[in-house]
Amino acid sequence: MMHFQKVKLLNNLQDYIIGRVAEKSLFFYTFVLLMFNSDMMKRFFYSLLLTLVTIPAIADEGMWLPVLIQQRIVDMQENGFKLTAEDLYSVNQASLKDAIVHFNGGCTGEIISDQGLLITNHHCGYSAIQSHSSLEHDYLKDGFWAMSLDEELPNKGLWVAFLVRMEDVTDKVLAGYNESMTEAQRDSIVKSNSATLINKAKAEGKSYKASVESMYYGNQYFLFIYQVYNDVRLVGAPPSSIGKFGGDTDNWMWPRHTGDFSLFRVYADKNNDPAEYSKDNVPYKPKRHFTISSKGVKEGDFTLVYGFPGRTQEYLYSDAVKYISDISNPHKINLRTLRLDAQKKYMDQDRKVRIQYSSKNASVSNSWKKWQGEMGGIIKLDAYEKKVAFEKEFAQWAADKPEYNTLLDSFKEIYTALEPYSFARDYYNESIRVNEIISFASSLMTAKKREIDAAPIIENFFKNYYQPIDYESFIALLSEYDKNVPADFKPQYYKDNIAKFGSPKAWVDYIFENSALLTPESAQSLFASDSLEADPACQFSSEMAKYNSQEVLSVIRDYESQLQLLYRAYMRGQMEFCEDKVFYPDANSTLRIAYGKIRGYSPADGVYYKPSSTIEGIMQKDNPEIFDYDIPQALRDIYASKDYGKWVSDAEGSVPVCFIATNHTSGGNSGSPVIDAEGRLIGINFDRVWEGTMSDVIYDADICRNISLDIRYALFIIDRLGGASHLIDEMTIE
Ligand code: ARG
Ligand code: GLU
Repeated sequence: MMHFQKVKLLNNLQDYIIGRVAEKSLFFYTFVLLMFNSDMMKRFFYSLLLTLVTIPAIADEGMWLPVLIQQRIVDMQENGFKLTAEDLYSVNQASLKDAIVHFNGGCTGEIISDQGLLITNHHCGYSAIQSHSSLEHDYLKDGFWAMSLDEELPNKGLWVAFLVRMEDVTDKVLAGYNESMTEAQRDSIVKSNSATLINKAKAEGKSYKASVESMYYGNQYFLFIYQVYNDVRLVGAPPSSIGKFGGDTDNWMWPRHTGDFSLFRVYADKNNDPAEYSKDNVPYKPKRHFTISSKGVKEGDFTLVYGFPGRTQEYLYSDAVKYISDISNPHKINLRTLRLDAQKKYMDQDRKVRIQYSSKNASVSNSWKKWQGEMGGIIKLDAYEKKVAFEKEFAQWAADKPEYNTLLDSFKEIYTALEPYSFARDYYNESIRVNEIISFASSLMTAKKREIDAAPIIENFFKNYYQPIDYESFIALLSEYDKNVPADFKPQYYKDNIAKFGSPKAWVDYIFENSALLTPESAQSLFASDSLEADPACQFSSEMAKYNSQEVLSVIRDYESQLQLLYRAYMRGQMEFCEDKVFYPDANSTLRIAYGKIRGYSPADGVYYKPSSTIEGIMQKDNPEIFDYDIPQALRDIYASKDYGKWVSDAEGSVPVCFIATNHTSGGNSGSPVIDAEGRLIGINFDRVWEGTMSDVIYDADICRNISLDIRYALFIIDRLGGASHLIDEMTIE
């Protein structure tokens, strides 16, 4: 492990974070200090947690496959759930799964009326909202409410997928495989059997898509069949000062006051089938839509999140966890800090640039901040030490089992060899490929190869491009690459050029002075010529990409295939070793159920966070001077008049805004329905608390919380601020 780098970086990062945030939040500050200076805490937790290593999965932790939810239903019911497994997932009758969609691949959404009305997060609809925004009608800033179906806005490329069904196809996928085969042979059998299953499934219905997904590292395979609708129109969005209230400062944090929702509508043809956009399309009639509860929530209530978590790695070998917390995250955070600084500088100066970069900036900053929480959480929880302790026990148990007794040594060996390659890949991804002009060059070269029209790519690129940001950020990133990537992992092309130009800055200057990709016109004519590949930006892009794919990724792929094999056995081994524990498969963007309770938490000694927030907190944070906290005047007026309509929480005497619970969620769960014991919609999941973002690697029921928007706040905003009560009339509210 590259320890020397760790220490230095952590110190800088600590200064950086503290400097940036001290003005804003004392709690954040406290946690940062705790997170980095926690030797005593560490020792204490270590001894405490060692005892917890092998306890069975308790309620709270876990993302369960809906088709197998029968296995959890008793536990769920003991925790307060009133419905049956069939109510959640059924292929014979309409069930709650029919009201849930995978929203454009990265988020979740749910249907809340019999007219195909859909709710998801504001940040999930963000690029759709942005694409309809301009300086003249800035829906990001002012919000948007369609007052009739005619006013709903179509979104090219936006799709939602309903899960038709899922089934265990392990036997079919592995047909023809036997244990004596190599991993490569196995892969090819899996691929071809899967392709057969997928093709058959796709033929079952209109606009069906299917995939075969591996669970538990290939110990099990499931077929997922979806129906895809791609006429999805924007219906409503609050102003960003509500939908993104608190911006990146509050992101990943509790207490939270973000109204993170937006409304869309799914359209279908006259037969209710999926169809390309047409003005003759009509609102989709769902098999099932959510009933909304306006009763409210309180600490201890049962909650369930039903959605599409993207990726977790709960069963990693210890060294892999250490790589995340000690090397990968610190470096990636540092690189993103540099990009964010360049963006922020110009976004603050110019409203147009702010709009252009709002979506890019939010996504860069989102992982930037998550990685900080994750790394802090891993360290604070002693995840590495816990894993090591578990591995020790496992090794003892496995000593006389030939199937398992060499696993851990093999892990060690492979991870040691893999680490410098992972490091090089991380740098390629975060410091080379991300430079806008470089990724633009790459998409033009791809378009040329595939003989695709470049005009839309060029138009799209320049719509949201501000050269000074890219230029400054490129210099900063390339300088870090130069400093931190070992010579053995730099391409000869790189070494030659850095020698020729003398410094990363001089090289970047050269690219920006000589590339023809910097205006739409010159890019277009370069594309039409025969010399696209000779452009300095294109050359940089293709040479660096070539090295990454041939010298780095190919090696990584090889190691990963060996790891896959090891993990498959390790997974089985863990299941045998911890007989009483029920294992859930890692998230892989398939539909999952997570259940738990509404619960506050204690982020630090002497501090307890209540599980819900109200509009009072919005008023406390309101500050016209700070962009992220400058709420619409209309909301101030409503607050002053206390004219909340019917959206007041009896318990709080105020308008509820967000709540937290112990549901185990991940990226991709954004927009997921949060339901109560009766299956009614009580909230929309949109985030996790910062101290708990290590739950992708290790979950801790004491500190891991998902953050949801209280559905009553969405209704309040639609009704009182948006004046769109016709939408509320469409919903079923109890
Ligand atoms: N952290 C949430 C998620 O991972 C919300 C991100 C959007 N909000 C933001 N301020 N960038 O997607
Ligand atoms: N905001 C995340 C998303 O877009 C959800 C938060 C999380 O990672 O849990 O999916």
